[in-house]
Amino acid sequence: MAGIKDVARRAGVSVGTASNVLNRPHLVRPETRARVEAAIAELGFVLNQPARQLRSGSSTTIAYVLLDARNPFFTDVARGIEEVASTENLTLFLCNSDLDPRREAQYLDQLLMQRVRGVLITAVDYTNERLRALPANGVPVVLVDRVYDATVEAAEDGWCSVGVHDVEGGHVAVTHLVERGHRRIAYAGGPMRTPQVADRLAGARRAMEDAGLDDDQLTVLPTSALTVEEGRRVSQRILGLPARRRPTAVFCANDLLALGVLQHMTQNGVAIPEAMSLVGYDDIEYAAAAAVALTSVHQPRHEIGRTAAQLLLEEAAGREGHQHRHVEFSPELVVRASTAAPRGLRATPTAG
Ligand code: RIB
Repeated sequence: MAGIKDVARRAGVSVGTASNVLNRPHLVRPETRARVEAAIAELGFVLNQPARQLRSGSSTTIAYVLLDARNPFFTDVARGIEEVASTENLTLFLCNSDLDPRREAQYLDQLLMQRVRGVLITAVDYTNERLRALPANGVPVVLVDRVYDATVEAAEDGWCSVGVHDVEGGHVAVTHLVERGHRRIAYAGGPMRTPQVADRLAGARRAMEDAGLDDDQLTVLPTSALTVEEGRRVSQRILGLPARRRPTAVFCANDLLALGVLQHMTQNGVAIPEAMSLVGYDDIEYAAAAAVALTSVHQPRHEIGRTAAQLLLEEAAGREGHQHRHVEFSPELVVRASTAAPRGLRATPTAG
């Protein structure tokens, strides 16, 4: 394997010049840079990143540990992170925990050993000690899609965080349904240990209370995950409820669940929104593109990613006076075709 000395010899330059072409190309004259690049190509030289990192003491990699790579919410957030990383010539590793705490722990161990520049995470388990081991060893962490509440969580405020106020998101979703006349509403989402899911339910409950409705007018249907498949399953359960308990509207903890409900109900002859109103959460691209365009609570995914990455790089740069910040975006309801007044409350068109 050719080394940097072989490249320098082949190009007829010093090792320092050859190294500058790789790390600070703007310092090298174009014709010299071209000779070195030609030598790299001829010799098949590949930079030894871990060795370089050991010498420089600073990694050129950041990582985003996410919950579910199948969910466009996370890949949209990752694009925002990547946009910031690329301006700093950093590499972004995406680590998919798949909602598995063990897999998440393995990733965190690896990222600590590699002393990456920093870690962004939407965690399965925020209490995992490995998470705190990172900043304790000089690897900054930013929580993504989760606004760290220092008044509620552990005393030390070890990281920045960026997210949407999910209680407010649940409240705006259910208020929208109540204002359309729905009085029996289902909340579909899970697992409840996922803070986002629990917060959205808390907001839904608060909306029912604010409207003077009883708690039992909100049917909570826990799911094992936030996927299209789980959406189809929970739809089956809704259609199996006795008529007196069947809701006229469903609020789903994310859009993938709502798309599963939409598909299953439509296949079973339940018209959306005529027979059942439906609200999702995230406002991913497929929400607007669905067969019945989905009313959804918008999360500014790209902005969440960008903001989280900027906070991480500011902390990693060790700028004097870095103060941990918790950036909270407000959710915004995007009303589309999947919600309407319940049947019987809709004004029937007058004849003539
Ligand atoms: O992964 C679960 C959900 O939590 C995502 O759809 C997104 O809403 C996140 O907040």
